[in-house]
Amino acid sequence: MSVLITNVGELVTNQPGPFAAVADAALVIDAGRVAWTGPAARAPAADQMIEAGGRAVLPGFVDSHAHLVFAGERGAEFAARMAGQPYQAGGIRSTVAATRGAADEQLRANLRRLAAEMLAQGTTTFECKSGYGLTVRDEARSVALAAEVTPEVTYLGAHVIPPEFEPDPGGYVDLVCGAMLDACAPHARWVDVFCERGAFGRDEAAAVLAAGTAAGLQPRVHANQLGTGPGVQLATAVGAASADHCTYLDEADVDALASSATVATLLPGVEFSTRHPYPDARRLLDAGATVALATDCNPGSCFTSSMPFCIALAVREMHMTTQEAVWAATAGGARALRRTDVGHLGVGARADLVMLDAPSHAYLAYRPGVPLVAAVWQGGERVARSSL
Ligand code: NIG
Ligand code: FE
Repeated sequence: MSVLITNVGELVTNQPGPFAAVADAALVIDAGRVAWTGPAARAPAADQMIEAGGRAVLPGFVDSHAHLVFAGERGAEFAARMAGQPYQAGGIRSTVAATRGAADEQLRANLRRLAAEMLAQGTTTFECKSGYGLTVRDEARSVALAAEVTPEVTYLGAHVIPPEFEPDPGGYVDLVCGAMLDACAPHARWVDVFCERGAFGRDEAAAVLAAGTAAGLQPRVHANQLGTGPGVQLATAVGAASADHCTYLDEADVDALASSATVATLLPGVEFSTRHPYPDARRLLDAGATVALATDCNPGSCFTSSMPFCIALAVREMHMTTQEAVWAATAGGARALRRTDVGHLGVGARADLVMLDAPSHAYLAYRPGVPLVAAVWQGGERVARSSL
């Protein structure tokens, strides 16, 4: 059954290439795909018609970086940070302990609650990492659970060195590259590593990415989050789909991102929640790098699932235009996941759409914190709450 959504105040298509929008537009969905877009006055007939009443319609958000398989919470750590404590990667270990102690059902329920929270806020595609298990059993069940809710599953056994391997970090890298990888690869599409002081150095990270690639996974890297370091250079050297965080970059890092296909995925919710300085998005964009925005939703460094919040931060704090930010949260995320079927509303794209209770995409930053998502379609099906 075809559906015509008409009287769309602004239809963001992102077609072709950069941000693009049509005013007074319409869109036809058929068989789960976008079948037609254009001016409302020229719209073809369809089996069903939905009146948008001048509201804006955007591609569903693509959140290309999230850590949703975990137990417990770290509200007290956040409160201490706001009172002056620094953020440290070591906090990850408290979530590892809680996750190891949780039953599958508990992890599944938490994961599904967060996935539903994302969908209600317009995220129709999301990536989900392991990384809070750090044993063969706990990483394997983490990727298996993630695969229940998304095809974009990332094996992050190399998140931190777990306490029991503190005396033998090399032994842990061997495990991540060996038995743990063997157990996780069948459920995953991506391999990631936290390349950072206090986590994994360049050579260890390179070994993890090489082993993952040999097992059929594609690389992505947590890079340059807490300080300058080798992460971005490693990501571009191995042809990673994405270098994520990019908070502390030097000139060579910016050049490497600008001259490679590796997407710079910025996670401004992390800087909001850790009081680190925001990444220099303008420098990256002006140099010609491809920029994506994602939440990094996790219980430690940033516990938001809201792409609209990240868009508002990107505009206000990182000086991205409203168009750049919306593109980065849709088409940019799709690039970071090497997906051509989402992040845009060209004919043939998956019919993943967000209708805002607002006339333009700019309201996502103009009205920060206001729940503007009026309706969400995923693969042509209306899925989330609606005020229409
Ligand atoms: O992306 N950087 C490493 N991992 C997460 C933080 C995880 C945590 O603090 O629990 C991140 O920020
Ligand atoms: Fe992360």
